[in-house]
Amino acid sequence: MKISRYKRSSALTLGVTLVFTTAFAGSVFAGSDAIGPIVAPEVNEAKALLGKRLFFDKRLSGDAAISCSSCHQPENGFSDGLALSKAYPGSKGFRNTPTLINTALAANWFHDGRLGTNLNDVTREMITEDYLMNMDMRLMQERVKQDPVYVEMFEAAGYGEPSNGSIRKAIPEYLNTLISQNVPFDNGTMTDAAKRGQALFEGKAGCVSCHNGPLLTDEKAYNIGVAENPEIWSDPMRHMTYTAFASFMGIENYMNIRRDVGAQIIRHPADGSDVGSFSTPTLRELKQTAPYMHNGTFDTLFEVVAFYNAGGGQDENLDPKIKPLGLTFAEQKDIVAFLEALSGDPLTGPEHVWEDPISTNYPAIENWREVPN
Ligand code: HEC
Ligand code: HEC
Repeated sequence: MKISRYKRSSALTLGVTLVFTTAFAGSVFAGSDAIGPIVAPEVNEAKALLGKRLFFDKRLSGDAAISCSSCHQPENGFSDGLALSKAYPGSKGFRNTPTLINTALAANWFHDGRLGTNLNDVTREMITEDYLMNMDMRLMQERVKQDPVYVEMFEAAGYGEPSNGSIRKAIPEYLNTLISQNVPFDNGTMTDAAKRGQALFEGKAGCVSCHNGPLLTDEKAYNIGVAENPEIWSDPMRHMTYTAFASFMGIENYMNIRRDVGAQIIRHPADGSDVGSFSTPTLRELKQTAPYMHNGTFDTLFEVVAFYNAGGGQDENLDPKIKPLGLTFAEQKDIVAFLEALSGDPLTGPEHVWEDPISTNYPAIENWREVPN
């Protein structure tokens, strides 16, 4: 079934046309206008429905304490409203939880861009990493098989018996349904302030050189000089979680490091020139997803714009594109109005949220070891 909620309006074609061929090779919008509009992917309803229940089911975490929706909360634009994320009980997170709205249209994921293949891999990482859901795939499969509602839903979705492979397909199918709705920028209903902001965004302020395409990101990493969030190093639980991550990622000198090295983990350049680079995030749905940046150090959009206006932060690897912009106070406010016009309706209704209580009141399969998978 094809869902096409988004019509291309003439207002959208006014954007400056930039050349962004390679960055958008994987995108549905390869080689089109510099910014927007968005095109919803096709959705298989039975698979997405199953994925929705799984997304809201705490039994997908090792000790059944958290679900995907514990951190990716519908009422916060599928982020969590915190500077730094929570984590599996016994650890604490060291990154800001990104929105999942439109994540199905992205070409790489995580603040350091460490996964650029597909959402099946991203889902696996979320489920199995010990500081996230800390779940063993085999245990997950057995748990899901015990629940007669799932047995029926997997069958109805055409997956046959529950398996961990189909769980990792069903959740991304649900993510395909999380697409921006009713966005002033897409609808051509922007205020005059937002229109002035768009002109600055594409002109004098130069934002569009990194924030372009339908998601307002070129999917590349840059160093814009965002300061460290000191809580990662002062809170022993966050610090330990980061140290374990850094060790696993092969980060040089991980025991002594006191900063989030970001995209350095991708190429590990010997001169450390990727330290402090982070993936350019989408600018859609920002109204729902404060605080901002990989470590949540900005509370408001005005603070972010003022930060760019001042020439970004201080860092030896600072990207040369980041320099003082000389914007007036009124111009900065117009850019904020444009950023706000990139947000749509909250996705908090029953089409996007699993609302039925998930019952675990069913008889256990006693001889589960003998029941074939
Ligand atoms: C404990 C909190 C937590 C839970 C539970 C969690 N996530 Fe996440 N998720 C995060 C954080 C934090 C990041 C960013 C990680 C990074 O950049 O290193 C993230 C990133 C993602 C991304 C990439 C988004 C982007 O734009 O880069 C996807 C997709 C995602 N999570 C999906 C899921 C799914 C599906 C589940 C359930 C299977 C899940 N998450 C469970 C906290 C969580
Ligand atoms: C050199 C590329 C580049 C340019 C130019 C640029 N940005 Fe960014 N932007 C980034 C990167 C990279 C991040 C993420 C940094 C981080 O997480 O530490 C970011 C983050 C943001 C965020 C935070 C989003 C979130 O969800 O956390 C906003 C808002 C933003 N930029 C707006 C703008 C505006 C407005 C301009 C123009 C004044 C601009 N950017 C110019 C690369 C750029």
